[in-house]
Amino acid sequence: MSGVDLSIDGAVATLRLDNPDKLNAFTPDMLAQLDQHCATLERERSVRCVIVAAQPAKAFCAGADIIAWGALSPFDFARHWVRDGHRIFDRLARLSHPTIAAIGAHAFGGGLELATACDIRVMAPRATLALPETQVGIVPGWSGTQRLTRLLPEPVVKEMALFGRRLSAERACALGFAAEVSDDPEATARAMAGKLAGTSPMATEVAKYQIHAAVGEDRSAMIEALGGAMIGASADKAEGVDAFANKRTPEFPGR
Ligand code: COA
Repeated sequence: MSGVDLSIDGAVATLRLDNPDKLNAFTPDMLAQLDQHCATLERERSVRCVIVAAQPAKAFCAGADIIAWGALSPFDFARHWVRDGHRIFDRLARLSHPTIAAIGAHAFGGGLELATACDIRVMAPRATLALPETQVGIVPGWSGTQRLTRLLPEPVVKEMALFGRRLSAERACALGFAAEVSDDPEATARAMAGKLAGTSPMATEVAKYQIHAAVGEDRSAMIEALGGAMIGASADKAEGVDAFANKRTPEFPGR
């Protein structure tokens, strides 16, 4: 049985791909579970950091399950595979908590797109990144030509998507895509998560909103969320709500 497990240990949540016999390839069940876990995490204020990891296998994730999507009709493929995958990876990318992908082995196709949806990445030295979709007659569908092209130079994404070249951990780190190369990416990710204890949860969340607004990740919602947080703390908002509830004309203090 394939799945994505969610465990919460103190302030650190871990999402772990669990389909090692198929190199952690993403099945429809795994997508649905990731969606549910993101919904849980969105309401979980005790968590300071989310680590995305995988059961040990030759690949962190060898991409979307070729047998599963290969059986879909063209429109089901578009509706329930590409668009659902997009929506769910967007949900992960837009969590208010900082996220770290601990890439212990190869991340191909959807596996690379999953790691790209995290805030930062730590890679094992032997892990490589690839977009092999054209080798199976399709194109990247879960943001490999979009979000990934924001994080890596366009020619590098073309090397991968058009020429099938793999990106080494060392090169990914030199290009800034990976924050660090580590023999134990999950331990390194946990050490990084521990450092968040000394930072303000609210300031961290707002900084993530600002950066997402700058790069166009959910920009319109990020701008309105920043405005909402600012006005939500004002005396004017308190007065407006109180006046409405008490059926009187508001007297806004302007602060
Ligand atoms: N979807 C479904 N099953 C997959 C898979 C995928 N994306 N990637 C690997 N698997 C399965 C294999 O079919 C195999 O299953 P089996 O043991 O029942 O035969 C098992 O995982 C192990 O993979 P295998 O190919 O035997 O390992 P390998 O070490 O020879 O090769 C890869 C590793 C990653 C190079 C190779 O599995 C591969 O190219 N996978 C597909 C990558 C891809 O195209 N991803 C994008 C998909 S859109």
